[in-house]
Amino acid sequence: MASAGAGGASARDALSAATDAFSAVGIDTPRIDAEVLLAGITGRSAADLVANREEQISPAESRSFSEAVRRRLRREPVAYILGSKGFRHIDLAVDGRVLIPRPETEMLVEFALLEEPGSVLELGTGSGAVALAVASEIPGCEVTAGDVSTDALEVARSNAVRLGLADRVCFFHGTWPTPGTFDLIVANLPYVALGDDLPPDVRDWEPPGALFPGETGLECFEEVIAALPGSGVEAPVIALEVGHGQGEQVAALVRGAGFGETGIHPDLAGLERMVTGRRQTTSP
Ligand SMILES: C[S@@+](CC[C@H](N)C(=O)[O-])C[C@H]1O[C@@H](n2cnc3c(N)ncnc32)[C@H](O)[C@@H]1O
Repeated sequence: MASAGAGGASARDALSAATDAFSAVGIDTPRIDAEVLLAGITGRSAADLVANREEQISPAESRSFSEAVRRRLRREPVAYILGSKGFRHIDLAVDGRVLIPRPETEMLVEFALLEEPGSVLELGTGSGAVALAVASEIPGCEVTAGDVSTDALEVARSNAVRLGLADRVCFFHGTWPTPGTFDLIVANLPYVALGDDLPPDVRDWEPPGALFPGETGLECFEEVIAALPGSGVEAPVIALEVGHGQGEQVAALVRGAGFGETGIHPDLAGLERMVTGRRQTTSP
């Protein structure tokens, strides 16, 4: 790219050089990535940068931007380069130890809000995105969140401290916490099948343990849902993020675990994204 160089450059020149370089290697959203990176580095909003594109960025910002562009050209995700990702209304610190929270996962939080739970258990918390968003949006709700990855738990715990939510979310290592009753279980477990085609940004950079449960993509659901009845954990409602085409199979697993009423919910793109299960109450 035309380097911003030691003497700095205009935002316009820096953005257009980066956009061209990103396009040349086949990055899907070259202009947006350039704007988000420069905004993150300069501490300005992307709208402000574009509105004032003739303004110079400082030499130090130019150097940081050149380094960020170099990393992005190797397909490192923008969120890892900047070290943060917005989810709902919170900002989470993220790095290669955790999956980058996706907008579609906000469905789990939206479902939790409708349920108005007093207690929520999250399985596979990663960066803590769902647990921390639930804790921040449902006052008084007690949240318990676990992960099999100790690396991920370190990230989640430090996000909880940074967001001032450490006293509202209790973290544990593993799949199941100590036996107890919760109003709702939510989980975005790994569900990508081994042969699925993924962009290099995901395949080469995000933790495999957060993506691939095995050959079919259903293995983690099979293992975790089958273990639920013997876990000592009780909950009347469960919500699971799923991949497109997995809805019926996951709903059958959820019914098998005793949640008689199941639903398969599409995301905004119309793809199957969430399976919910509710225990049927018997009338007296
Ligand atoms: C798809 S990521 C989701 C992370 C986060 N909840 C989010 O939505 O951004 C799945 C997470 O589940 C964890 N995980 C994988 N298998 C698990 C299991 N059997 N029990 C609990 N956590 C598991 C992974 O370590 C990873 O952090």
